[in-house]
Amino acid sequence: MPLKGRDILSLKELTAEEVFTILDTAERFKNERRRSILNKPLTDKTVALIFEKPSTRTRISFEVAIKELGGNSITLHSSEMQLSRGESVEDTARVLSRYVDAAVLRVASHKDLVRFADAASIPVINGLSDLYHPCQILADLQTIRERKGSLTNLKIAWVGDGDNNVANTLIVACAKLALKLTLACPKPYQPKKEILKEVAAANIVVTENPIEAVSDADVVMTDTFISMGKESERNQRLRVFLPKYQVNERLMAQAKRDAIFMHCLPAHRGEEVTDSVIDGRWSVVWEEAENRLHTQKAILYHLLTNGK
Ligand code: CP
Ligand code: NVA
Repeated sequence: MPLKGRDILSLKELTAEEVFTILDTAERFKNERRRSILNKPLTDKTVALIFEKPSTRTRISFEVAIKELGGNSITLHSSEMQLSRGESVEDTARVLSRYVDAAVLRVASHKDLVRFADAASIPVINGLSDLYHPCQILADLQTIRERKGSLTNLKIAWVGDGDNNVANTLIVACAKLALKLTLACPKPYQPKKEILKEVAAANIVVTENPIEAVSDADVVMTDTFISMGKESERNQRLRVFLPKYQVNERLMAQAKRDAIFMHCLPAHRGEEVTDSVIDGRWSVVWEEAENRLHTQKAILYHLLTNGK
């Protein structure tokens, strides 16, 4: 099935082959940009970017991606829209479908994203929900492939909150691509049974022991302990996660010598990661952030054009 016209809400909707198609296109866009070659496949296309939560990377990288591909973007916070006064998600989706060629949404509730996508007749892209962050994980896969040469025979370790949008999407991606993933998370913040059951992959292991997860890992990943919307749980979460689940030099020493450290950002230095790791020899976080631009260009290109 062609990618044109489809939605990307969780990564579950893509086959492994489609993931690689997007990564290959992202790599091409990255190489072309380095050589100042900017084709304009989105000429005359408009993309709406709607945010219910703050964003630095997603918003700016999408706006730049759309501009560099020759398209137009319209960015709105949902509080500026009639949505905030009770217009339904479905009616908003129907109206937007008459104006723009695609919509990127950052929502508090994944259910609202699914309602929007069901009512819309244009491609809908998840710019982060409480459950999934597919654009992030596509950029992460591009980063791992660049640094490790391929996406085979790798052990990925996730340390910290295993019950958030980024962890959930990583689980989906690792199951799809048969990547070995070990998540070290305290009991209350382990991945939801339904998520693990849905992917039913033997290559996904959950432990409470960060050393076990990181031992011989090629990639060590973490994320904030307090995702957007969980601020009221801050003290309780920090008590559970710290100090055991902090990625520091001692923990990184358990990984392979050439292991890389990844973080979707924003980082909370001194909480889930120390300065010495995020600024140290393992860290690829700036490349990872840059790759948001290239993978999102690839997503837009495939969802909006006939490019194969
Ligand atoms: N990683 C990420 O999605 O960052 P923003 O919240 O800044 O968009
Ligand atoms: N898990 C984090 C990701 C931020 C990009 C959050 O939802 O806040």
